[in-house]
Amino acid sequence: MIRRASPVGAARPEAGANGAQAAADEATPDVVPAGLDRSRLPAHVGCVMDGNGRWAASRGLPRTEGHIAGEEALFNVVDGALEIGLKWLTVYAFSTENWRRPPDEVRFLMNFNETLLSRRRDELHRRGVRIRFAGRSDRRVPRRVQRAMDEATALTAGNRTMTLTLAFNYGGRAEIVDAVRALVADGVPAHKVNERALSSRLYFPDMPDPDLVIRSSGEYRISNFLLWELAYSELWFSDLLWPDFRSADLYRAIVEFQQRTRRYGGASG
Ligand code: FPP
Repeated sequence: MIRRASPVGAARPEAGANGAQAAADEATPDVVPAGLDRSRLPAHVGCVMDGNGRWAASRGLPRTEGHIAGEEALFNVVDGALEIGLKWLTVYAFSTENWRRPPDEVRFLMNFNETLLSRRRDELHRRGVRIRFAGRSDRRVPRRVQRAMDEATALTAGNRTMTLTLAFNYGGRAEIVDAVRALVADGVPAHKVNERALSSRLYFPDMPDPDLVIRSSGEYRISNFLLWELAYSELWFSDLLWPDFRSADLYRAIVEFQQRTRRYGGASG
């Protein structure tokens, strides 16, 4: 097991704006609801882990305490994802716009991402998780943080139980711009530029598009996350602040996902 839910989740507020949640509210993070069909899992779930700062502020704590509590939530969700056999999980850990946050918080987040890897890497590896980082390399990312990311990537490169992608210094627009730059660098003529050519130059062309994208904290926006990839993703929003989010909430999102009808622009029925 990675780590069980900490008391931070004990006084959870009402679990969100997605309906049909009340009945599942007693579910502990370890209980997979009977309604979740493991044979029809989303291939890939993306998570916008939002609300750490507000969680901390509501307790009179510094924002950084919210990120620490957010780590519990993240690994509870990873635990839950492994439990049901999810193959791809991508979480938004730092955006290309998050450099605009107060310098102290940015410094904390850089350091936090490094120490998070040292705390979690070996167990993730033992559990067969491939760790990858999607985003731009950037001189503002301290070298030791980059080294920790490279080491985690190399150590876990052969794992296939689940791929956990941390979107770090990631921006959806930046990813598309980088793909266009690669098209130009590869000398692809305009008449050969198509969706396949561009997709194959995204950060991870082997990554399936997310079927389901979850955002916590009651904000209904995408904030530059996986812009190309989520063209046909199902979106699921929770009012829970990220530190209160648990695998039970992931399961709730998946159950609701499994009840939706996807049309991809075609007709239903
Ligand atoms: C998007 O909202 C949310 C993110 C980019 C996630 C940021 C998450 C962290 C900094 C903490 C990561 C936590 C762990 C446990 C690794 P936004 O605030 O960037 O965008 P907005 O201004 O549109 O809301």
